Amino acid sequence: MLPQSMLRTCHLLVLMLCVSAIEDFDWTKNDHGSFYYGVFPTGFSWGAGGSAYQTEGAWNVDGKGMSIWDAFAHKKGKIFLNDTGDFSCEGYHKVKDDISLMKDMNLKHYRFSISWPRILPTGIKNENINEKGIKYYDDLINKLLENKITPIVTLYHWDLPQILEEKYRGWQNASMVNLFNDFANLCFERFGNRVRHWITFNNPWSIAVEGYETGEHAPGLKLRGVGAYKAAHHIIKAHAKVWHTYDTQWRNKQKGLVGISLSGDWGEPVDISNQRDIEAAERYVQFYMGWFATPLFNGDYPQVMKDYIGRKSAQQGLGASRLPVFTAQEKSYIRGTCDFLGIGHFTTRYITQKNYPSGRGNSYFTDRDLAELVDPRWPDPGSEWLYSVPWGFRRLLNFVKKQYGNPMIYVTENGVSEKMMCTDLCDDWRMQYFKDYINEMLKAIKDGVNIKAYTAWSLLDKFEWDEGYSERFGLYYVDFRDKNKPRYPKASVQYYKSIISSNGFPNQRELESWKGKAIETCSSSNQLLAADPLISHMGMVTEIVVPTMCTLSILLSAVFLMFLLRRRL
Ligand code: NOJ
Repeated sequence: MLPQSMLRTCHLLVLMLCVSAIEDFDWTKNDHGSFYYGVFPTGFSWGAGGSAYQTEGAWNVDGKGMSIWDAFAHKKGKIFLNDTGDFSCEGYHKVKDDISLMKDMNLKHYRFSISWPRILPTGIKNENINEKGIKYYDDLINKLLENKITPIVTLYHWDLPQILEEKYRGWQNASMVNLFNDFANLCFERFGNRVRHWITFNNPWSIAVEGYETGEHAPGLKLRGVGAYKAAHHIIKAHAKVWHTYDTQWRNKQKGLVGISLSGDWGEPVDISNQRDIEAAERYVQFYMGWFATPLFNGDYPQVMKDYIGRKSAQQGLGASRLPVFTAQEKSYIRGTCDFLGIGHFTTRYITQKNYPSGRGNSYFTDRDLAELVDPRWPDPGSEWLYSVPWGFRRLLNFVKKQYGNPMIYVTENGVSEKMMCTDLCDDWRMQYFKDYINEMLKAIKDGVNIKAYTAWSLLDKFEWDEGYSERFGLYYVDFRDKNKPRYPKASVQYYKSIISSNGFPNQRELESWKGKAIETCSSSNQLLAADPLISHMGMVTEIVVPTMCTLSILLSAVFLMFLLRRRL
């Protein structure tokens, strides 16, 4: 873990202790409601997802160029245990197998991303199109469609061609807008006759903050208080440009939709009767999802971001705000460029007001003047940052409805991880997480939020960025020790299948039977996994020992024959 996240964790812990010590503080002031039995609207789409760098492997195969994640992960000390995505789940070679897993679950859609350097090794359309890379995505799309699974395709899930980082400093440079547009245009040209759902960027918050502010992610730059805002500015412009390209050149023919996938934790005021906490919580959400959603829906950054960053920049003696400014023309070009809003949501924080004097240096985090807290009773089975707080999901969805005029929403990511060493496939806590989060989403639909699809994150265990393989989000367990990367269903596969086949939660009696059934199926997968070392050992016997023995025997027989022949002569 890098210093920034360590600091944030310590900070959270200290605050947690302070707040727990205040006796009259009541965590239960927030009404969390009870379980709601009911089903989803007809046609609601259930899916699962993954992304190129996290699952494909084949990092240097068939003419693929290097991405910033290849370069970053190959540097020592950047990723937990110095792991890389070089092979990951070997998804590049296992399209058929993975589609049969999806088919078995009855998924209606699969969300994946296209690796930019796999189809444009130098990042630039006019230089070199890698037809083998195009063929890989062609096959994937065709096979999904043959199986009646709708592809939802992300154009940028963080793997920028490395050469563009070296030449231009990646998203710090405005040239990226046109280069990304060329890449997107190529994807529309080659795949758009079969793909109807496009997501320009996945989670631009992470690209900006973790890539250019804290440096925990590729390209690993620490341009505090400035770099993230600049990257985000170019990303928003690039998104808008791609939307317009689709709108003017392809929409008529291809009849698809272009959206973006934003991540957003929910921020709940620590004390809901304290105006300063209420405002701090609102700021938390505005600096997170609002940073990107507000320009796309309303044409400009949230007012609160402009005020806070502007004031702090002035106090720091800067001539202009560290938050870049859109011209009037750009604002009207950017406004309304979202056919649907993708939402990736995992967790919630309590938020309280906290002043950070502007003299203490720049940072996105201190610009917000707030502190994040967690309730020690929230379950946190896997990733250190991921607490299970289902009610926060419903609140976030209602916030989006209210703020952005009830847009069409696709839930593009939601799920929970477990720790690396956990090889128990009977993942109770994940079934509970899905049940409760999906139930809150159902309540949000009843509240009138316009949600069309849900994507469980993720189909497979996979490379989890700077955490390497230490955090497993998959419905399917992947045995990374085995070079064939076998997949084993966790209990949550069966549980999610039941939700899908009932299109929701019909009644209590039925729900009770789901868990029992899921546990039954996972016990047998557990046995299979336990036998895996033996099976891989046997694999080694057939792949290495047997051929070696055969060759040796042939050689020995030849020598013996020669010896006999010589004696005769
Ligand atoms: C959001 C990212 O988009 C995804 O790639 C990652 O696996 C999840 N967060 C979980 O960390």
